[in-house]
Amino acid sequence: MTITQLDLRLPSSCRLAGTRIPAYMFRTYQEIAQQAAATIAQVIRDRNGLGHAAVLGLVTGSTPIQVYRELIRLHREEGLDFSNVVTFNLSEFVGLKCESDQSLRRWMEENFFKHVNIPAENIHFLDGAVSLAAVDEHCRDFERQIEQAGGIDVALLGIGRNGHLAFNEPFSVRNSRTRLARLDPITRRDAGSSFFQEENVPTSCLTAGLSTIFAARKIILVALGEHKAEI
Ligand code: PGA
Repeated sequence: MTITQLDLRLPSSCRLAGTRIPAYMFRTYQEIAQQAAATIAQVIRDRNGLGHAAVLGLVTGSTPIQVYRELIRLHREEGLDFSNVVTFNLSEFVGLKCESDQSLRRWMEENFFKHVNIPAENIHFLDGAVSLAAVDEHCRDFERQIEQAGGIDVALLGIGRNGHLAFNEPFSVRNSRTRLARLDPITRRDAGSSFFQEENVPTSCLTAGLSTIFAARKIILVALGEHKAEI
């Protein structure tokens, strides 16, 4: 699907004038979630209709949670089928076991995966418990798996207060690939409430690179609230 076709389904009244990429403003989070979920659902139907798996790049956080709720509703009430969907989560904290309450894997399982029918073997995470010796190979393997899946059809992203995408913190380079990286102090501060206090937030992360993300055939980047308006 081209961007033009996608635009036709979005309310033209929400299109922001003068933006170089299609940008839309909505009054409520519910409207954003419905538009984003509808776009993802269409990608799934289109790819599956062609006999291909739909490949999603996903993140966690207060931004996408309502989109996941809407996708779950579409699954339960409108029969949206996730059985031929492949997912890649684009970031993870380093130093947490995958079953840890704060791991992003756990977040995804609780808030999305356990409510829809994506086969377990189609779900891919970066492993925050990977050893330092194995981390580079782990990151390369993640990239290989994306490639083998045919590339990401649609990536759902939020944006951090410091402008990060996944955990590509300020000064990440445009051609970066999946890697071990350090978390920015603002990201650690913002994650503090999930870890009871900022000191408990890991200092390192694994993240898909900007280049990994920008290779997606479609990107939905959602920014919520006035505090994100200037980013
Ligand atoms: P948030 O985080 O959704 O919790 O605001 C966005 C981000 O860090 O990308």
